[in-house]
Amino acid sequence: MKVLITTEEIAAAIERLASEVRARESGKPLTVIAVMTGSIVFLADLIRKLDVPLRVGVIQARSYSGTSRGELSVNLDMLPEITGHDVLLVDDIFDTGHTLQEVIQLLQGRSPRSIRSAVLVRKLGKQQVAISPDYVGLEIPDVFVVGYGLDYNDTYRNLPYLATLESTDLGPQPAP
Ligand code: IMP
Ligand code: MG
Repeated sequence: MKVLITTEEIAAAIERLASEVRARESGKPLTVIAVMTGSIVFLADLIRKLDVPLRVGVIQARSYSGTSRGELSVNLDMLPEITGHDVLLVDDIFDTGHTLQEVIQLLQGRSPRSIRSAVLVRKLGKQQVAISPDYVGLEIPDVFVVGYGLDYNDTYRNLPYLATLESTDLGPQPAP
């Protein structure tokens, strides 16, 4: 395992992202919707830097098995009322963008007043959709990262930095 982005670099990126959110959302109450589970650590850091009345809700999106994309499923059971609210959608990483696109479409169906999106990390050169996140913390090359909420098969979320996995860190992969 190799550290790609240090704890200090992540803290500086979230500070900058939070100041962009504060400037652009200019004090209006926000409903922060976090995409579980990868965004938990980013969510906790970000909301403590937003000095506005805010609500927090969660949804769950799953698409990965190991390091390969699978079918996307989104669970909205825990989504609070967002009709007429200004929503800030928070996710861990924007890779192909399919997750964010699908989630935004689903949330639009509940008629919020506005939706903007914030991701901790964007992978460069991978985007396959027309939409982009409104706020981006860090940009990284096309490598599989773990830590700071991001997982490999549900492990490593607790690392306080972002690390790349070496092949020796990967368990047996399911047959294609
Ligand atoms: P997308 O739909 O391709 O943009 O993928 C977004 C989701 O895939 C993220 O919310 C993550 O859960 C997962 N993901 C993508 N790349 C990585 C990675 O490098 N490490 C861990 N999870 C990832
Ligand atoms: Mg995720």
